[in-house]
Amino acid sequence: MNPPSNPPPAPKLDPHEDHELHDVMQIHTAILRREKAEPQEGLEPMPIWLAALFGALLLWGGYYLGRYNGGFKALVFDEKSSGLPIMAAKPPGSVDMVVLGKRTYTAMCAPCHQETGLGLPGQFPPLAGSDWVNTAGHARLVRIVLNGLTGPMEVNGQPFNNSMPPWRDSITDEQVAAVLTYVRQSWGNKAPGVPIDDVKVIRDKTKERANQPWTADLLKATPESE
Ligand code: HEC
Repeated sequence: MNPPSNPPPAPKLDPHEDHELHDVMQIHTAILRREKAEPQEGLEPMPIWLAALFGALLLWGGYYLGRYNGGFKALVFDEKSSGLPIMAAKPPGSVDMVVLGKRTYTAMCAPCHQETGLGLPGQFPPLAGSDWVNTAGHARLVRIVLNGLTGPMEVNGQPFNNSMPPWRDSITDEQVAAVLTYVRQSWGNKAPGVPIDDVKVIRDKTKERANQPWTADLLKATPESE
């Protein structure tokens, strides 16, 4: 290896000797003083207010979930909320049966019986003007909604042979009463409403049947008032 060669002689920096060099140095120092160092990306500590905000949001979220989870029961979104301790404070009878009836009908019945109550010829029998709906008693109707109905039947003299599914496990007594009251008093139907207590009684009487649908013959063997 060669010994390191001597560095070249430093340029003369004596400002008295070189005015140009002096000026250049002055300008550069001024720039250096004025400009701040470039900010660098790195591990900056999180601002305290942001940490506090996240903390507060978490607390609020936890509180909200705890307060309004309704026991994580699907039926909490029902108007019937009396089973839930949180909402038990609501005065009983605050449910608008007409609103509940229409809403239940739209969600559970209209896909087949149609919003107009006219059904679809040959497939879904009409509820509007139906001789099954416009009866003095309502026990058969409650049975139909709870357990469904299958096999050949006639509605206003028109034959049908199809199946309606059971609703027992997915409908409350209040909804049955409301939807049947709605059906019995819409589209020109004029039959008395259906009280919630009667639905309870019939649900209990027919619980042995579980989810087995009725046939028209079986229903006809049961008086419409029982
Ligand atoms: C999946 C379609 C379907 C849905 C949903 C449905 N039904 Fe039915 N419904 C039928 C069929 C089909 C029949 C006739 C069954 C037969 O042919 O034996 C029927 C018959 C009836 C009858 C007796 C016949 C008549 O027209 O009066 C009533 C009352 C009735 N349904 C009410 C309801 C109510 C109230 C709901 C909503 C809670 C409902 N249905 C939901 C299909 C349905």
